Amino acid sequence: MRALVYNGPKDVSVQDVPDARIEDPNDAVVRITTTNICGSDLHMYEGRTSVQPGKTLGHENMGIVEEVGPGVSRLKPGDRVSLPFNIGCGHCRNCQGGRTAFCTEVNPGFAGGAYGYADMGPYPGGQAQFLRVPWADWNALRLPPGTEHELDFTMLSDILPTGWHGTRLAGLRPGDSCLVIGAGPVGLMAALSALTQGASQVFVVDEKQDRLKLAEQICATPVDFTDQPATDFVMDATSGRGVDCGVEAVGFQAHSPDGQEMPDQTLQTLVDCVRATGGIGVIGLFVAQDPQGVDDVHAKGNAVFPFGSFFTKEQSIGTGQANVKDYNRQLRDLIIHDRISPSWIVSQELSLEQASEGYDKFDQRLDGWTKVVLHPDAAR
Ligand SMILES: NC(=O)c1ccc[n+]([C@@H]2O[C@H](COP(=O)([O-])OP(=O)(O)OC[C@H]3O[C@@H](n4cnc5c(N)ncnc54)[C@H](O)[C@@H]3O)[C@@H](O)[C@H]2O)c1
Ligand SMILES: [Zn+2]
Ligand SMILES: [Zn+2]
Repeated sequence: MRALVYNGPKDVSVQDVPDARIEDPNDAVVRITTTNICGSDLHMYEGRTSVQPGKTLGHENMGIVEEVGPGVSRLKPGDRVSLPFNIGCGHCRNCQGGRTAFCTEVNPGFAGGAYGYADMGPYPGGQAQFLRVPWADWNALRLPPGTEHELDFTMLSDILPTGWHGTRLAGLRPGDSCLVIGAGPVGLMAALSALTQGASQVFVVDEKQDRLKLAEQICATPVDFTDQPATDFVMDATSGRGVDCGVEAVGFQAHSPDGQEMPDQTLQTLVDCVRATGGIGVIGLFVAQDPQGVDDVHAKGNAVFPFGSFFTKEQSIGTGQANVKDYNRQLRDLIIHDRISPSWIVSQELSLEQASEGYDKFDQRLDGWTKVVLHPDAAR
């Protein structure tokens, strides 16, 4: 089968790889209809992770069940499914507690497994014609048959639940104001999630005009951090009170207006802008080690965090990968009933063979390259 393979920094290509197949009785094989390129893939693409050459990438996957193993009872060939990017076993302590992003069974020695990602276990990704889905009954979310809402449903595997998770970590309540830092796909989903839950005002910070426009389209307030520091804008706009809560949606490669990497700056802004007793949700990726970090502190995966101000303001913070299964069923139903349309951010639909061009352009954050989706199924 054909698949997008990581060869080395800024080098990916579509190649022939061994077919995905049933390896365990609980597996299914899914024919991928849509798979997205994620900002998380770019950390790997830019050589900032320990991903090994030869890995098939792709953790935002949906498609049609092609085949099931003898231990699978709920799914059958032909079912249309969304696959959470985290792979869970369904029976470990964390899975049973709803923390499916931290399964202790699927990636021994580490809490958490995923398709096509550095340190997340041996699982190939779904930027390919077919994907092996372990523990398929547990992991797959069934979708209505057909092709309706394909571009909305494709956001269920990661970024829509992740954006929602950011607002839950931040403790957002109806009527709250919320500051979202980063207007990439994840930040835009956090803004959509906050507004869907009744936020009164949502500020979204970035420098990319096309992304800020998308935030404006859903009635969030765009903040261009190259015009003035985000903190100044937000404190002015809230008459010095600050926002009720905030979401970090950039991660460890955040940069300053002049392009210098500043991994701690977004956390500083959130502590400054969130009011006393407010909450902060960190969904942007931070890594345990970053050999190419800006200095020795960051190379060891440490951050400079304003703990004194955070303590003084009695803020709270939540972090981590999103437990997709905690949200994806309800978010699917919000899509089915036309309450949300996360597809408004899709900027390109490409074939699998065009994937390396997609990586190159999305990685440059070129104007108009907001969310790239691939359709490996040539029949589409
Ligand atoms: N927690 C999870 O489960 C989870 C899931 C998916 C993605 N992520 C992470 O979320 C982050 C965002 O993902 P994405 O797909 O939106 O990526 P992206 O790279 O497309 O978007 C990041 C955005 O942040 C902006 N930015 C950079 N520095 C900034 C700063 N100082 N202030 C404000 N904006 C700044 C960039 O211009 C860009 O638009 C990544 O780190 C990704 O790995 C986490
Ligand atoms: Zn992703
Ligand atoms: Zn588990």
